[in-house]
Amino acid sequence: MRVQRSVLTMVLLILLSYCVQPAEGKMLGGLTVKRTDRRVREIANAAARQIGGEYSLISIKKAKYQVVAGKLYHININLSKTGMSLVSKVVSCKVKILDPLTGGTPELKEFCCKMK
Ligand SMILES: *[C@@H]1O[C@H](CO)[C@@H](O)[C@H](O)[C@H]1NC(C)=O
Repeated sequence: MRVQRSVLTMVLLILLSYCVQPAEGKMLGGLTVKRTDRRVREIANAAARQIGGEYSLISIKKAKYQVVAGKLYHININLSKTGMSLVSKVVSCKVKILDPLTGGTPELKEFCCKMK
């Protein structure tokens, strides 16, 4: 019983909040605020897909980017998570995703998601 409960707590913690933040000590340029246009929506969708196949984008807020080898976008997005339960859950994520100079597939660099 006790073991079950601690496993449940662990699962809940994982469900409630998870971050992937590789430690990188790079110097980056300043942030430029970007209005939500088609490319920002594409990038946000790419972030959702790379966070997990069970996520889909609901909304976008605060897109900014830094110029590196491309543009490193900082975006806040809401995603819906469909899983084993029929009720879809909303998670709110802060993501950093690189839009490469070549215009190819955006590459998710880090993300931090919380249940709403
Ligand atoms: C997510 O949705 C909530 C309301 O459901 C809203 O207040 C919030 O601004 C949204 N965040 C983003 C990143 O779109």
